[in-house]
Amino acid sequence: MLQLKIRILLSLCFLIAASYAVRSQVIHIETGNTSLVYGVYGNKVKQVHYGSRLTSTAGIDGLSTAFDEVYPSFGNGSSNEVALIATHDDGTMATDLVYQSHKQQLEGNIQTTTIQLKDEKKPFFVELNFKAYQAENVIEQWVTIRHTEKKPVRLEQFASTAIGFKAESYYLTHFYGSWAKEMQLAEEKLNNGIKLIETKRGVRATEYENPSFVLSLNQKASDYCGEVVMGALAWSGNFRLAFQVEDKENCQLIAGINPFASDYLLAPKEEFTTPRMVLTYSNTGKNQGSINLHRWARTYNLQDGNQVRPIVLNSWEGTYFKFDAAKLKSMMDGAAEMGVEIFVLDDGWFGNKYPRNSDKAGLGDWQVNQQKLPNGIGDLIDHAESKGLKFGIWVEPEMVNPKSELAEKHPEWIIQRKNDREPLLERSQLLLDLSNPKVQDFVFGVVDNILTDNPRIVYVKWDANRHIQNFGSTFLGDDKQSHLWIDYTKGLESVLARLNKKYPDIIFQACASGGGRLDYGALKYTHEFWASDDTDPFERLFIQWGSNHIYPAIATAAHITKSPNHQTGRDTPLKFRCDMAMGGRLGLELSPADLSPEDISYVKQVLETYKANREIIQFGDLYRLNSPYDSDGYAAISYVTAQKDKAIIMAYCHDFHRRDERSVIRFQGLEENAVYKITELNSKAKRSKVNETGKEISGSILMNRGLMFDMKKPYESVVLKLEKVR
Ligand code: DGJ
Repeated sequence: MLQLKIRILLSLCFLIAASYAVRSQVIHIETGNTSLVYGVYGNKVKQVHYGSRLTSTAGIDGLSTAFDEVYPSFGNGSSNEVALIATHDDGTMATDLVYQSHKQQLEGNIQTTTIQLKDEKKPFFVELNFKAYQAENVIEQWVTIRHTEKKPVRLEQFASTAIGFKAESYYLTHFYGSWAKEMQLAEEKLNNGIKLIETKRGVRATEYENPSFVLSLNQKASDYCGEVVMGALAWSGNFRLAFQVEDKENCQLIAGINPFASDYLLAPKEEFTTPRMVLTYSNTGKNQGSINLHRWARTYNLQDGNQVRPIVLNSWEGTYFKFDAAKLKSMMDGAAEMGVEIFVLDDGWFGNKYPRNSDKAGLGDWQVNQQKLPNGIGDLIDHAESKGLKFGIWVEPEMVNPKSELAEKHPEWIIQRKNDREPLLERSQLLLDLSNPKVQDFVFGVVDNILTDNPRIVYVKWDANRHIQNFGSTFLGDDKQSHLWIDYTKGLESVLARLNKKYPDIIFQACASGGGRLDYGALKYTHEFWASDDTDPFERLFIQWGSNHIYPAIATAAHITKSPNHQTGRDTPLKFRCDMAMGGRLGLELSPADLSPEDISYVKQVLETYKANREIIQFGDLYRLNSPYDSDGYAAISYVTAQKDKAIIMAYCHDFHRRDERSVIRFQGLEENAVYKITELNSKAKRSKVNETGKEISGSILMNRGLMFDMKKPYESVVLKLEKVR
């Protein structure tokens, strides 16, 4: 009897302790304005909230509105999408993750949280990691998986995040496209079922879809009102964002590496780390979400995100493969005259046995082409420097043409469908197998050699012009072929990290046939991205509009090119082309010899203006004012300094307007009570298209009443500068 009493007492104590544990186990991940809250229910961790900051979590443990488990796994009862599928050493496919412990720490601007979970039966561990950026209201999440089972565990699904939302309805904005038409914005209402945003292309992964989204709750996304969650996966390989809506009001996002044909054998004690999912929440619309992501990216996810970007002239559209030293030098002369800061030599400078005179040969043979450039790169750099320019160079080191010395020497380095299957060519080229450490060393060596031979190079444009397709690696064992997608991307990241470490001052551009590598994985190691091979300013209205929802202006390479445009054939005025390039990291992509003397002097003035104002654009907050997708035929954006003392407004007209139809644009992000002086930049006309140019007007009027822009014809544009005078 006494024994029974003791047992009851003990179990009562245990229950009290357990319920105390339940109540005390609230895991509150927070930023200045947002909260992501988990509760420990028994031994299960469940998400309770993601949204506006909760100033108190009192009473949260009893809420009946908790979501699914923090990291839902296959085999524990859920019939929804799961974050994890693992086949354990004895063939069991069930995993039941239970809470072990968690740790939190706030250091300066960053709160870090780790939650340790373990399979109920097996020594299989999942660690959930979070970094919460206080000032930027951004949360990064990633997951580390490891085990000490006897044999390898086969991972079949391994998301970076599983996060739930509750609302009346959901509208998903995502960014799709193709070559020369990247980052087109599409918004759709989510209904019951699963909506996938994904790629299975391995390389050039963001050409058709971007691993980012805006999820608007209860209404279509608006820039300045409503609740939105925005996110981006920091990964340059296959991705999958699965939005599952159930019973109308429940939405769950499971996002991470695309598990498609990617089973991963994890040896005991090895670690599998997922890429970071970057999330932000705003209850004042998606513009604030963009600002959050841009501010975060500049400080934490771009190379030198707080350093001014120089003006580049890239040789591609100016000369393609057809050049010699004299042509390049004359381009440099023109570039220097206009005020360009870096001359970048694009494709076509290498290969001797198989000269790179077209995209058909030479890729892989990174020796200077003796015919085109008999005096080498050094001679070009000497010339550039004599004109006050710095020098940059194009590489595509992950790739090889079958017609190359490299392909002859190392056929085993090429990604290939085995059993002598015909290689599938794209742009006449194949991919090197970056899962192989020897190939990683080679790819690193390509750039390393160029930079050690030419230590005055300051800029590297890193291109990648095909998808994976020929699936198969001679390096990975037969049982690990499905590692290729993931190990390729990890191999690429490690090469880029090594280069960053050895060459901290080199500016890297991520390019993949244009915007095919636009993701926060690549941007972690690079300074900027080539938004698109489509340089038509009308098309760029949409491409940059989409890109800048997620990625900042400082990283958006936007070049002034010739008219008619090489991709679209559209004719546009030089001013419109310049004003469009002003919206990002302005550069040029033409042969100066193709410009008239008047055009040269106009571009010179634009470049001076850009230099004088680029800090506002590159470090300012983006405020979208008028969408190019609206039917009114206008588009407008602005950049405002954090102190709100300066702003640049860029307005574009892209359709014809009848006689009295004009656009009134209301500004955003200014100080209500400040007074701003208005000047027009890049003007070509005698009379400003904005009557108030030269006047001093309050922020309140500018934001609530707006100004009229006298733009009527397609491809008219206006750039204004606002300076706070009192
Ligand atoms: C594709 C890039 O997007 C272009 O800018 C140019 O570098 C070409 N490749 C060169 O082959």
